[in-house]
Amino acid sequence: GTRRWRVERRHDIDAFTPGLLSLYESLNPSEEHKAKQRQLIESLTNSVSKEWPNAQLHLYGSCANSFGNSHSDVDVCLQIDTAAEENIAELLLALAETLRKDDFDNVEAITSARVPIVKIADPGSGLSCDICVNNLFAVANTKLLKDYAQIDEKLLQLAFIVKHWAKLRGVNETYLGTLSSYAYVLMCISFLQQREPKILPCLQAMEPTYTLVVDGTECAYFDQVDQLKDFGAENKESIAELLWAFFHYWAFHHDYRNDVISVRMGNTISKQEKNWTTRVGNDRHLICIEDPFETSHDLGRVVDRQTIRVLREEFERAATILQYDDDPCVALFEPYDYES
Ligand code: CTP
Ligand code: MG
Repeated sequence: GTRRWRVERRHDIDAFTPGLLSLYESLNPSEEHKAKQRQLIESLTNSVSKEWPNAQLHLYGSCANSFGNSHSDVDVCLQIDTAAEENIAELLLALAETLRKDDFDNVEAITSARVPIVKIADPGSGLSCDICVNNLFAVANTKLLKDYAQIDEKLLQLAFIVKHWAKLRGVNETYLGTLSSYAYVLMCISFLQQREPKILPCLQAMEPTYTLVVDGTECAYFDQVDQLKDFGAENKESIAELLWAFFHYWAFHHDYRNDVISVRMGNTISKQEKNWTTRVGNDRHLICIEDPFETSHDLGRVVDRQTIRVLREEFERAATILQYDDDPCVALFEPYDYES
């Protein structure tokens, strides 16, 4: 069962706030990186619009949701009118051909993935870029994350640090059974929605001011976030306290057996109610993170019996370091050593 223990938060936790904040500052993408991204997007737009004049190019993922750092790739979604789904693979192959002609490097069409893409590298900057077609859910969830980020900077601070930790500790690899960056950001949003006093509201529970219909599913929420700038003002917790509480939650308090975290509801909901209690196909539901719009998607579905242990051990390691270490920022971000 879930281990639940309560430890008193160490009294000097706040001493680590300045170090964490300067780490956050240093992770923000440089102007140079942003200029390279803009350049890549421009040459891509030129290439695509010659062949598909009616196509629209949307940015999604960390280059557009404000959670990107100086290592982030560029994620692009092409919106093209196609008659049927079967055309997507053909379209991606044609796109790959066009981009090869226009001298992009390492052009590769991956048509068998859950979300089929063309991968390219920009010869000038070396930046890599994934291009998908008509994946408007990604466009909608990118805007949702960006809007949450504008409400309270504590979200950006927490999520940058958590993503950085996950990369260094080797638990940000979906193909190896750990979690995506997207999943970590949702975990941070959900966590801040549940602080007392709350730091973030639940935008999908408010009167919608933005709606995008994707494949018959309504993606709707309150997006006038400039009206919510003071939402979290009553909560005085520092970033060190929040990071401590985040890892303690995932190490010792989350009910892995019964609960699903849901940004859509601003709360946890039960696995029972989602029918996520038994394994269906490869979906094991060992850690449950509901996608805010594609609500049948569990972003934890990539996690298996072995990697759930790895993840929980890493959460416990981080929580313990933040509780007891004299210089937690060193041990916390120590790269995981695959050799030993
Ligand atoms: N995405 C999604 N469903 C998933 C995984 C990803 O819709 N199961 C979409 C989201 O829009 C997400 C984007 O794909 O923002 C990119 O995902 P990911 O690479 O996990 O996140 P990034 O924010 O791009 O992070 P990184 O900085 O690591 O590139
Ligand atoms: Mg990305």
